[in-house]
Amino acid sequence: MNVTLEPVVKNEKNILRAQRILEAAPNYERLVSGTVVPPSAGEEFFDDLPPGKTLDDKVTFIVRSEEQDVGVIEVVRGWREAGYAHIGLLLIDERFHGRGVGRASMQALERWVGSTSPETHTLRIGVIETNVAAFGFWQKLGFTDTGERRDNGLLAPAVVMLSPLKRG
Ligand SMILES: CC(C)(COP(=O)(O)OP(=O)(O)OC[C@H]1O[C@@H](n2cnc3c(N)ncnc32)[C@H](O)[C@@H]1OP(=O)(O)O)[C@@H](O)C(=O)NCCC(=O)NCCS
Repeated sequence: MNVTLEPVVKNEKNILRAQRILEAAPNYERLVSGTVVPPSAGEEFFDDLPPGKTLDDKVTFIVRSEEQDVGVIEVVRGWREAGYAHIGLLLIDERFHGRGVGRASMQALERWVGSTSPETHTLRIGVIETNVAAFGFWQKLGFTDTGERRDNGLLAPAVVMLSPLKRG
């Protein structure tokens, strides 16, 4: 599947684009917080940060395929420590699931992190325990469970998974 990552800044148009994508994957919100996608989700996609990080540490992308917006990615460099890039969210429009878009998005993200952040050696993700299907995806991509659990105030703790950054 051919995808490109468009880096996007927070503005009215991009908040709306992110909101539409998030609303096109409603099962995610249901699984992790037990609710529908709130009207503030598009804005929160740009604003959410781990403790102690600033928006300068975070980069947001819209995933494009077949000339459409099909997903969102946000990544925070240097979390929880130098050398790690934390994927705050990778979410694909449900109509595009199971076609290789998620995998291709991660490959594109790895190329981008590798070329813009030479110090990064490891990717990090927190998978909410109730989002059972996501574990198969991350394991396929080489992520392993660290045993660490973090409470994010969602339905269940986040399972912290890591993968070495693949370069080239
Ligand atoms: C998780 C998500 C990003 C996967 O994207 P996708 O485009 O459907 O996945 P892909 O088609 O690229 O699948 C890549 C590989 O993962 C595997 N995979 C995907 N979903 C899987 C599942 N539920 N169980 C087991 N394996 C799975 C695929 O079989 C594929 O393996 P292959 O390449 O060896 O055939 C997508 O389902 C999504 O956006 N979910 C909602 C948001 C979410 O949960 N994000 C993750 C937060 S931690």
